[in-house]
Amino acid sequence: MSNEIDALLQEHRSFPPSDEFRRNANANDESVYDVADREAYWASWAEQLDWQTKWHTVLEWNAPYAKWFVGGKLNASANCLDRHLATRGDKPALIWEGEPGDVRTFTYRELHAQVSKFANVLKSLGVRLGDRVAIYMPLVPEAVIAMLACARIGAAHSVVFGGFSSEALRDRIQDAEAKVLITATAGYRRGNLVPLKKLADAAADDCPSIEHVVVVMRRAAADELDDTVSMKPDRDCWYHELMREASADCEPEWVDSEQMLYTLYTSGTTGKPKGIVHTTGGYLTEAYATCKWVFDLKEDDVYWCTADIGWVTGHSYVVYGPLAAGATVFVYEGAPDWPKQDRFWSLIEKHKISIFYTAPTAIRAFMKWGHELPEAHDLSSLRLLGSVGEPINPEAWMWYHKWIGRERCPIVDTWWQTETGSIMITPLPGLVATKPGSATRAFPGIDAKILDEGGNEVKVGGGYLAITTPWPSMLRGIWRDPERFESQYWAKWPGIYFTGDGAKRDEDGYFWLLGRVDDVINVAGHRIGTMEVESALVDHQAVAEAAVVGINHEIKGTAIAAFVIVKSSRAEEAKRDPAKFEKELKDHVSAKIGAIARPEKILVTVDLPKTRSGKIMRRLLRDIAEGRALGDVTTLADPTVVASLKDKYEEES
Ligand code: WT7
Repeated sequence: MSNEIDALLQEHRSFPPSDEFRRNANANDESVYDVADREAYWASWAEQLDWQTKWHTVLEWNAPYAKWFVGGKLNASANCLDRHLATRGDKPALIWEGEPGDVRTFTYRELHAQVSKFANVLKSLGVRLGDRVAIYMPLVPEAVIAMLACARIGAAHSVVFGGFSSEALRDRIQDAEAKVLITATAGYRRGNLVPLKKLADAAADDCPSIEHVVVVMRRAAADELDDTVSMKPDRDCWYHELMREASADCEPEWVDSEQMLYTLYTSGTTGKPKGIVHTTGGYLTEAYATCKWVFDLKEDDVYWCTADIGWVTGHSYVVYGPLAAGATVFVYEGAPDWPKQDRFWSLIEKHKISIFYTAPTAIRAFMKWGHELPEAHDLSSLRLLGSVGEPINPEAWMWYHKWIGRERCPIVDTWWQTETGSIMITPLPGLVATKPGSATRAFPGIDAKILDEGGNEVKVGGGYLAITTPWPSMLRGIWRDPERFESQYWAKWPGIYFTGDGAKRDEDGYFWLLGRVDDVINVAGHRIGTMEVESALVDHQAVAEAAVVGINHEIKGTAIAAFVIVKSSRAEEAKRDPAKFEKELKDHVSAKIGAIARPEKILVTVDLPKTRSGKIMRRLLRDIAEGRALGDVTTLADPTVVASLKDKYEEES
């Protein structure tokens, strides 16, 4: 880690926006950074949305509980759809391409009709204001329609990433007590069909709160019948049948500004994922504002954010932000390397994408596949690039700049979290000279600071990244767990939001993100708790104890290494065929959580190094897993090895 920090500190290259970009940018005057009255500033953004009733108070702050635009009433789907009908009714809102190459386009008018119909369907299934609806879908237009339909009737959605296991889905449905589950027969991934309905059944069968399961038929060709699907009478219904009868007339439910818009589960430092709660008025205001200024959205842009709707990026920057801004959003269902490794570049060329927002892990994969692939495509429609999810290494930044941006497009490296709801630290592309690897400056109106352990500000240097004043799209809590909300984010320094990230600030005031400081691992831009993986491993009948650490990985940034102590009854078997045993454990974790949590490495050990107070020495484990502390890790099976390593380590540090 310290080598990486040193490398970042030596990064002095700077890329100012071109005069042309600056001239045309939505934010092109440095004065946007002078926010004297934060509440008035955010209110001026909120005024750009449609409110059925205006708020009487901008902010009520009883730390750590915030209420924004108090007394106001609005509807998120009306802001994403209805308000555009007069001026943008025939403009494409959504252009979608499935992995097999099927394309569907929805104008704002068409999307409005589909959302209104499905909102009526949800009502007919008994969904009411404040109810929760689980969505477990591939990246198809119906997933977006389902989210907006929930918003239209004031129900909260809980989207569960389609790559999560049945068990993960079950836990999330049970925690939120969702009434309806929306899923699809299957989704395409690298030419295969992922049998989502089958996985959804395994979850829903264990969820007494679920009254109905709505199933979207996903098939590229009518003859691809899916024999993995069985429909349970009375509970399951086909989306297309319900939609046939539904009326396209559905008055939006005007909800309170603080009405819950959604909950989205994310990992923390304990074994149980937490349901982050976002509400309507403040969230939509900031998602909209950041789209306007960070992505510089213009009327004729074709905007593509590659995130899945299962993550917060898919909520704020595929659905709510860009649609509230009236943009044309492109969505692609499948894998970047299907049928070939140039799929993304051919999509950019074909759909004339002008704004492209993706993750460093994807960029590193593209680098590996070679610049010849993007080079062979016409990418001249691009004008702005974005990065999100994890720190971007300067090398990947430069490759992105050169081979995708063709040295013309500004890159916005955007730092934020599921909890923050919207982008918090980012360049404004017409104003800020970027430096490869730095997320640069706080968005106007956001108070980001580096603090030391005691809560003192570090002006230049490293420490913890904190947000010191409330912001409109901040999380309002953890679903039904106020204690965890308070202890996790607000206990380190009272009234100040603790991000869980380490960061440093340079002499120009730029932020450089250095990764998590807690027991959370960022694997390929996705957050996994070490405890979650450890619980999944210990759940296997051969494992007595497990400890998980993050190790450097060329593509994923960080990958998971798991140290396991095998029960003596199974030790012989583990020794006999280690490869088979390791695969069995990896498969077990995939089945328990999902493929994203699959460990890269399993290291069988007879002992785990612990401090005198019983804490696992993760830094030593990382050194071992990355081959620094010990050349040949197989000798961990020798009972004396871990003990002597620990002694040596304790002496040195
Ligand atoms: C964690 C949040 C924000 C949507 C995707 C992930 C890391 C995110 C950056 C960035 C460095 C970043 C942080 C953060 N992170 N963006 N631009 N540079 N690190 O959302 O799953 O809630 O994860 O992702 O560690 O805490 P998430």
